[in-house]
Amino acid sequence: MPLILAIESSCDETSVAILSEKKILSNIVLSQIEIHQRYGGVVPEIAARHHLKNLPPIYKEAVKQADIDVSKIDAVAVTTGPGLMGALLVGISFAKGLAVSLRKPLIGVNHLLGHVYAAHLSYADLTPPYLALLVSGGHTELLIFEGPLQPKLLGRTLDDAAGEAFDKVARLLNIGYPGGPAIEKISKDGDPHRYSFPKAMLEKDNFNFSFSGLKTSVLYLLQKQKNLSVCDVAASFQEAVVDVLVEKAANALQTTGLRKLVVSGGVASNTRLREKLSQKTEEMGIELYIPPRSLCTDNAAMIARAAFEMFNAGVSSPLSVTADPALSF
Ligand code: KG4
Ligand code: ZN
Repeated sequence: MPLILAIESSCDETSVAILSEKKILSNIVLSQIEIHQRYGGVVPEIAARHHLKNLPPIYKEAVKQADIDVSKIDAVAVTTGPGLMGALLVGISFAKGLAVSLRKPLIGVNHLLGHVYAAHLSYADLTPPYLALLVSGGHTELLIFEGPLQPKLLGRTLDDAAGEAFDKVARLLNIGYPGGPAIEKISKDGDPHRYSFPKAMLEKDNFNFSFSGLKTSVLYLLQKQKNLSVCDVAASFQEAVVDVLVEKAANALQTTGLRKLVVSGGVASNTRLREKLSQKTEEMGIELYIPPRSLCTDNAAMIARAAFEMFNAGVSSPLSVTADPALSF
């Protein structure tokens, strides 16, 4: 049973996980949100410095919780991109040191593949083919997985990612960072149909996304009308994003004929999105796979699970592997 240790440090979460075959033995996640909150977003230099400080104790804690002998680890996995250059380099250097000292293979993992594999951690019976909707802070993509590792890109955002739109609109509304959870929270007291915001590119054969017009139209509304209900604006904005994501995924399922939908990334923890996706997929007779919230946002267990698949396929990385902030499929 392969034992994989994985490191994730692509943005503002420092995480180390240990996976035995497909079972999580430990998954320690330390979020830096409180540190970056006062700046209204992630400051790359500060993120890298905190990864450097926090990785050694988190590694120790992960090993302790998993209760393993580190010499039994079969491979060391690490996120190589996409993400922040400095933050990625800290994780990669740590992973290389570990791989060399343990004399074990190093596996560089695409962070986006990790997000998709979070679903495999939660659903042991999930197998391709499936459609994946990846909705994170930096990416909004529709991917076709015909086999385990090399998806085909069906569509992606042409400007802001869905998570980025949540973060930017939360800043306009002055309700804090990160924007997704803040908007979700105040939307509970708002009317999702109070304002009608634009839903871009909903044509049936277009699988790309665009969220910057939606963000701008929130800005115009705020400039034009004073004394608006912030909760109504947030709820209406959230509804527009959710409707676009659900409709695009449904169109893609219809066009491709795929019968399974995987949804992952930070935005997949949004309750309204989860509700509307469940409703739509049930109507269509599609099987829906969404990881629990704790595995939707960044964590090393998902990186370990993707690495396990790579390990089985005989894929590893040379010690010269480095960070690729713009890594894609
Ligand atoms: O996947 P993730 O943790 O990091 C990246 O790889 O980017 O995603 C972070 C993004 C942020 O933009 C955050 O605002 C968004 O996910 N997010 C949410 C929610 N929780 C996190 N968006 C909407 N609703 C949420 N509950
Ligand atoms: Zn992520």
